[in-house]
Amino acid sequence: MAGSPFSALDMQGKVALVTGAGRGIGQATAMLLARRGAAVMVADIDGTAAQATAQAISANHGRAAHLAIDMTDEDQVADMIDQTVRMLGGLHAAFNNAGIARVGPLLAQAPLSDWQQTIDVNLKGVFLCLKYQTRHMAESGGGAIVNASSCAALLGQQRTAAYCASKAGVIGLTRAAMAEYGPRRIRVNAIAPGSIDTPMLRQSVGDDDGIIAALGKDYPLGRIGHVDDVAETAAWLLSDAASFVTGICLAVDGGYTSSGPWAHNPDDAPA
Ligand SMILES: NC(=O)c1ccc[n+]([C@@H]2O[C@H](COP(=O)([O-])OP(=O)(O)OC[C@H]3O[C@@H](n4cnc5c(N)ncnc54)[C@H](O)[C@@H]3O)[C@@H](O)[C@H]2O)c1
Repeated sequence: MAGSPFSALDMQGKVALVTGAGRGIGQATAMLLARRGAAVMVADIDGTAAQATAQAISANHGRAAHLAIDMTDEDQVADMIDQTVRMLGGLHAAFNNAGIARVGPLLAQAPLSDWQQTIDVNLKGVFLCLKYQTRHMAESGGGAIVNASSCAALLGQQRTAAYCASKAGVIGLTRAAMAEYGPRRIRVNAIAPGSIDTPMLRQSVGDDDGIIAALGKDYPLGRIGHVDDVAETAAWLLSDAASFVTGICLAVDGGYTSSGPWAHNPDDAPA
């Protein structure tokens, strides 16, 4: 039987919004969605970076627009959805990816301002995006949303309590939105990346290839992640290929959260 020339991964005819798309995971995902045919709204608090990503998409024969948006500001987020629909003709897929990671002191010394800033961007920002995305998608026949959580929501780690809490909150928000909007044909999922080689990670651990390679030794696959590892997963969840998948938090972590400290001694690998 002749196969269909169209893949369920195709995003032809769809409009996708990616937040934090000026660099890192968001940029890679925006570019992948555009290569698969989506018109992409590139949103970032750094307007110059957002513009550069949109220009790279256009240079590659894709369709993109860009906005400088702070995800913590309700009016700006509401306007982002309106502008996406007005400039690109709809909103079918959204990757709520923008986030910050602050490595600070232990809990007893942690300033409340650090807590507030992290919760504002990582949790309130996703809440605001969901609020206006679900409103639009419910009225326009449905859609798919992916929220950026983290392995830090699944495993404890030191000096990042606000980050861990914000990313755990994203999983709760994802499930709540899934339950409320499944009947309106909106799928809502989360992804939990492990360490991914991005500017955020290098700012946290050091901008040094040796440090990055050493981090990979803790991963059963022997390496940390590349931005395209996460982009492929997010783009799949946003596509019709994942049409019966909703409410999950999918680890994209080379096996990190599935293994214990005894599980991946690199010297004990099978020949
Ligand atoms: N890199 C990792 O190892 C890793 C691991 C797990 C989860 N994550 C999550 O994945 C997402 C992307 O991470 P990344 O490593 O690509 O980060 P990054 O810092 O490289 O890029 C994040 C982008 O978000 C933008 N941004 C920050 N605050 C914003 C705001 N208030 N409004 C709009 N845009 C804002 C930044 O300008 C930046 O372009 C984040 O939510 C992060 O927490 C990353």
